[in-house]
Amino acid sequence: PLAPIMIQGPMPIEAEYFASLLTDVRVEHSGNATFYLGTLNGHPIVVAKTGKGLENTAAATAIGISRYQPRIIINQGTSGGHDPKLKVGDIVLGEKSVNASNFKTPKLEAGEGSRPLTWIPMDLMASEGSAGEGDSATDAEKIRFYAGDETLLELAMSLSKEHKTGNVVKGTIGSGNFWNNEIDRITWLHKNLGTSVEEMESASAAQIAHAYGVPFLGIRILSNNITNHGEYNPETAEACQVFVKTVVEAYIASL
Ligand code: 5AD
Repeated sequence: PLAPIMIQGPMPIEAEYFASLLTDVRVEHSGNATFYLGTLNGHPIVVAKTGKGLENTAAATAIGISRYQPRIIINQGTSGGHDPKLKVGDIVLGEKSVNASNFKTPKLEAGEGSRPLTWIPMDLMASEGSAGEGDSATDAEKIRFYAGDETLLELAMSLSKEHKTGNVVKGTIGSGNFWNNEIDRITWLHKNLGTSVEEMESASAAQIAHAYGVPFLGIRILSNNITNHGEYNPETAEACQVFVKTVVEAYIASL
């Protein structure tokens, strides 16, 4: 049998539309994840509703890979803009993703407070040693980016005109269990990590997909962008899945 294409979405509004496109659906559960197994245009698909955040996503990715051995993984859903040029409804293709919540802090004494804009990015994959002390400290003070699969990225980019409610651009997806509403914090992440958008999942899925050698792409629509007063629009979640359907159909046709 053909290896399936795995489409991940965190919340019901980010996964169930795609699941509804499948034929002959069977549902399986594992922990906080729900897997919808079916076909699209005759090709096996697994839609993974992962739940929100880094942990749920990492677990769903590892379980999903070992159970279903997908040929590719697309992590998709909503996001918040870090780049004022991006509008609600635009889609960012993850040329790169980065965990934007891994930090080591400089030393401050009792009573000196906390200064988030001085925190140093920390790479937990730099070594097997301590990330905070000793020889690994220098290596750990780097930013680890996971590259999106080149073929999937170019395929998705070639279909940009198919997305009617916004532009499609390449960019950097920053992930963390956070929802930043401080403009200076967002600007700091945009400048120092190069983030186009923030959300809570892509870098986690990318890290695990990379560990297992599964080609990966993050596709994220902006549902909000406080850097340009772009108000939250939940309808973007379905628009993202509509675009992902276009990408998946083109991918299937290319096989
Ligand atoms: N910050 C963080 N997560 C966001 N999401 C959408 N917008 C944002 C934002 N500005 C996504 C996350 C998570 C859910 C709350 O929506 O990926 O799954």
